[in-house]
Amino acid sequence: MPLLLTLTAAAYIALPLMDRLTLRWFARDLNMRGSLVANALTESIDDALQQGRDSRIQALLNRAVQDERLVAIGLCSEEGQLMQHTTGFPKTLECKEAQQIAEARDPLLHVSGGAIQVGLYPVDSQGRHIGNLILLHDLSFIDRRSQDTRQYLIILIGVIGLAMALITMIVAQVSWHGWVKGVRGILRGEGLLRPMAYEAPPELAPLAADLRSRLRDLEDQYRRALGSEEEWNPDRLRSLLQSQLRGDQVIVVSNREPYIHKNTPNGVVVEQPASGLVTAVEPVMRACSGTWIAHGSGDADRSVVDSHDRVSVPPGHAEYLLRRIWITPEEEKGYYYGFANEGLWPLCHVAHVRPVFRESDWKRYREINQRFADAVVAEARGEDPIVLVQDYHFALLPAMVRAQLPRATIITFWHIPWPNPESFSICPWRQELLQGMLGSNILGFHTRFHCKNFIETVDRNLEARIEHEHSTISYQADETLIESYPISIAWPSAEETRSWLTVAECRERVFSRLGLTPKMKLAIGVDRFDYTKGILERLHAVEHLLDRHPDLVGSFCFVQIAAPTRSSLDEYRVFQDRIHQVTQRINDRFGREGYQPVHLLAKHHDHHALNELYRAADVCVVTSLHDGMNLVCKEFVAARDDEQGVLVLSRFAGAARELGEALIVNPYHVEETADALYRGINMPPAEQRERMANLRMTVREFNVFRWAGRMLAHAARLRLRRRVEARVQLHQAD
Ligand code: G6P
Repeated sequence: MPLLLTLTAAAYIALPLMDRLTLRWFARDLNMRGSLVANALTESIDDALQQGRDSRIQALLNRAVQDERLVAIGLCSEEGQLMQHTTGFPKTLECKEAQQIAEARDPLLHVSGGAIQVGLYPVDSQGRHIGNLILLHDLSFIDRRSQDTRQYLIILIGVIGLAMALITMIVAQVSWHGWVKGVRGILRGEGLLRPMAYEAPPELAPLAADLRSRLRDLEDQYRRALGSEEEWNPDRLRSLLQSQLRGDQVIVVSNREPYIHKNTPNGVVVEQPASGLVTAVEPVMRACSGTWIAHGSGDADRSVVDSHDRVSVPPGHAEYLLRRIWITPEEEKGYYYGFANEGLWPLCHVAHVRPVFRESDWKRYREINQRFADAVVAEARGEDPIVLVQDYHFALLPAMVRAQLPRATIITFWHIPWPNPESFSICPWRQELLQGMLGSNILGFHTRFHCKNFIETVDRNLEARIEHEHSTISYQADETLIESYPISIAWPSAEETRSWLTVAECRERVFSRLGLTPKMKLAIGVDRFDYTKGILERLHAVEHLLDRHPDLVGSFCFVQIAAPTRSSLDEYRVFQDRIHQVTQRINDRFGREGYQPVHLLAKHHDHHALNELYRAADVCVVTSLHDGMNLVCKEFVAARDDEQGVLVLSRFAGAARELGEALIVNPYHVEETADALYRGINMPPAEQRERMANLRMTVREFNVFRWAGRMLAHAARLRLRRRVEARVQLHQAD
C-alpha cells in the first residue's frame, strides 16, 4: 500500500513535467513543419503577388491550411498589414501581435478552444523580403494526448499495485508459515535441544541463532551465578527441591550402599562403608529424602528389608528409603570386580595398572545395569523423576532409564577421573559406554579438565554435535550438558562440633593407643587400600625423610589407615601385600624398642575414629597418583577447628585445584614429598593457622550441598524449560 501511494504521488508530480516536455517536442516539430509549408508557398506567393492575383494567394493558403494541425494561415505585408488569411484566422490577431507572440519563449495564443502555436516565417524572393506568413497550429491535441497518458498511467499504476499486493500476499503467506514453523520449532526446543533435527527456514535463521544463543547465554550466566553467594546447607537444598523442583521425586542409584547390615557374634550391626561417594551423597539424600537404590552387599541386608527390599535409613532416623538390589556372587564377579574394577577403574585412573576387558564381564555389566534401570522405573512414582546416577558402575544405565522413562531428568556424576581419548580408546565397548552415558541430561565430573577429556573422547568416537561454548553434546535426539561439579563434604554443624573432644583430648587418646610419646610428630594417611592412592610412594617418602633426618627417628610417626577394599582382585592383593612388606622393611630399619615409625592399620574405621585421628595429627598426607577429587583432605580440614595441622596434597587429586594452601606435591617425586613432610612437621603455628583458615573457608563454602544444589538447580532449569515448551505446544494445538 505505501508503495502504491508513492507511485501515484510520483506520477502526479511527473505528469506536468512530462506535459511541458512533450509540448516542447511538438512545438519544435510544428516549427519544422511550418518552415516546410512556408518554403513550399514562398515561390507561388511571390508569383501571385507579382501578377496581382489575390485569389490565387487565397487559394494557396486555403489548400495549405488543410493540413490536419494547421488552424489558419495569414499573409502579412512587409509593413505588417494582414493581406490575406484563411477563415479560421482570429479576427483580433494582427500581424504585429502575431510577430511578438512568435518571438516569445512559449509562442502560444490561448483561445477558447485551447492553445494555438503562432509561427512567423519570412517570405523572401530573390533576396528580397516580401512579407511574412503567420501559421497558426492547433495544440489542443497535446492536451488530449496528455489526458490519455494520464489515464493510461493511472491504469498502469493500478495494475502494478494489484500485482504487487498479490505477490506480497503470497510471499507473506509463505514466510508466515515458515516463521510460525520456525518459532514453534524453537519453542519445542528443536532448535535448541536438537539442532541437527531442525533446520530453520533461511529468513528465520538469524533470529533463531540469536534467540538460541541468548537463551544459552542466560543459562550459562545462571550456572555461573550459582556461585559463591549465599552459603549452601541442607535447608537451602531442601527449599530448592520444594520451590524449583516442586518436591519432585529424587532417586539415587549407586553400587555401594550407604549402610551395610552385617552379622556379628553380638547380632546385626550397621556399618558405613569407606567410599567418597557415600560420604558425599548421604548427607544430600538426608536433605532430599527420596529413594536410594544400591547393591545390598551386607550379609544381614536381607534380614532387615521389607517385602519390596526397602529399608528406612539412617537407622533410627528414617530420613529416606534404601532399596536394595540383590546380585549373585557370580554376577558381582563379572559386573563389579571384573568390568567395573578391573576394566573401567584402571582405564580411568593413570596409575599404570593395565585394564582387563573380558567379554563375559561386559555381558554381566550390561545385565546388572539393566537390573538397576528396571528398579529405577519400578521406584518411580511419576513419569519424570529426578534420577541421580552415581559413578562408573552405571555407564549404560542412563540410556536404559531414558528408554523407559523418556521424561525423567537424569543426572550422572562420574566420581573418578575421565582419561584422554587415546587411553580410553583401548576399551572394546567404548561407543556403547559413551552412548549409555549420553542418555543423561546432565553429566558431571569433578574438574573442567575431565569434562574436556570426555568431550574430546565423544568427538573421536561418536557422530555427535558438540557445542563447546555451552559445553553440550547432542547425540541422536538427546542433549547432554557436560559440567564440572567439584564434590565435597557436609561441613560439620555446630551441634556436631560441640560433641567433639578437644584436640588435646583427641591427641592424647590417639597417642596413648599407638604408644606414642607426647612430643612426637604425627603424620597420617587415610585411604581405601587402593593402588591409586599413592600409599607406596608415601612410604618411600617417609623412609627418605628418616634417612635424611636421623633426628626424626624416634620422634616422628606415620599412621596409615587402609580400609579393606576389593581384595579378592589379584592386583589389589599383590599391592596390599607389597605395602605390608615395605612397612615391615621401614619398621625393621628405623624401629627400636618402644618405637615403630610406621603404623599400618588395614581395617575399617568409622567416621568418629577417623575424626579423632584427623584432630590428633600434625600432618595429613594425601598422595593419590590420580584421584577424581579425594574427600579425605576435605574431612581433615573440616576436623581442624583449631586451625592447626598441615595438609600435604598430591597435584593429581582433583582437590588440588581448590586447596591451594596445602603443600602441593608430585607423589612420584619421593624427595619432594619427603621435603613437604619435613616442612609440614616443622611449620610454625602461625603459618599453619593462616593456611588452615583459608582451607577451611574454601571447604565450608564449596560444600557438598553446593555440589548437589548446583546440579539440581541446573536440572530445575531444564525441567522448567521443558514444561514451558510443553505448555506452548498444547496452546498451539488448541
Ligand atoms: C571410589 C568410587 C566409589 C566407590 C568407592 C569405594 O570412591 O568412586 O564409587 O564406592 O571408591 O569403592 P567400593 O568398590 O568399595 O565401593
